[in-house]
Amino acid sequence: VAAHFAHGPLAGRHVLVTAGPTHEPIDPVRFIANRSSGKQGFAIAAALAAAGARVSLVAGPVALPTPRGVDRIDVETAAEMAAAVARTLPADAAVMVAAVADWRVDAATAKIKKGAAPPALSLVENADILAGLAVHPQRPQLLIGFAAETGDLLEKAKAKRARKGVDWLVANDVAQGVFGTESNHVHLLTAAGTEDWGPASKAAIADRLVARIVETLAE
Ligand code: CTP
Ligand code: CA
Repeated sequence: VAAHFAHGPLAGRHVLVTAGPTHEPIDPVRFIANRSSGKQGFAIAAALAAAGARVSLVAGPVALPTPRGVDRIDVETAAEMAAAVARTLPADAAVMVAAVADWRVDAATAKIKKGAAPPALSLVENADILAGLAVHPQRPQLLIGFAAETGDLLEKAKAKRARKGVDWLVANDVAQGVFGTESNHVHLLTAAGTEDWGPASKAAIADRLVARIVETLAE
């Protein structure tokens, strides 16, 4: 309801955000997952809503409250996240912060019992939600990806930006232990080059990114 009366620089705009990890079941009681608290994505969703956008937040399993004014869609697996993302389109911009599991398991329907030998996990690659959006007929005008890397951060991030077909890539070095903390150190990669945003709180990074989204959508 609040969205109908939204004001701010993003009033009338719809922005999609993905956040958190995905969980891929191994059997009814076990899963594999990525490391992600969801804090950076939720901070971005909150900043977008504060700027007046209608925000669809597709969230993996996280322990975080829904930011004020945000439409939250909870999912568990990468396949569920992909389906939820497709249902939110069209969107003016998409900020894909989720740490999506690259593989799912060919899951057992009954609990696997301990036996003589540990079970082998047979992994299947998940669809790339972001790369799919990049070539979608309803591709958001501004498509933003995130990348967590270790070592050679900028080289890997530049290659990833090109490979994924995104407008901007926000890269962070996860060797420094950002998971679950309130702060982060990111670089913003655009067609114009690379900007080092330095160490900052996740809230400050969210505000700065949203200010850039406002600027770019206004052009
Ligand atoms: N992403 C996605 N769907 C996937 C995997 C990743 O939408 N199945 C998105 C993430 O949300 C992020 C971006 O793609 O915005 C980059 O994710 P990342 O894991 O860094 O890239 P990958 O292409 O999976 O490469 P790798 O994990 O091998 O580094
Ligand atoms: Ca990945």
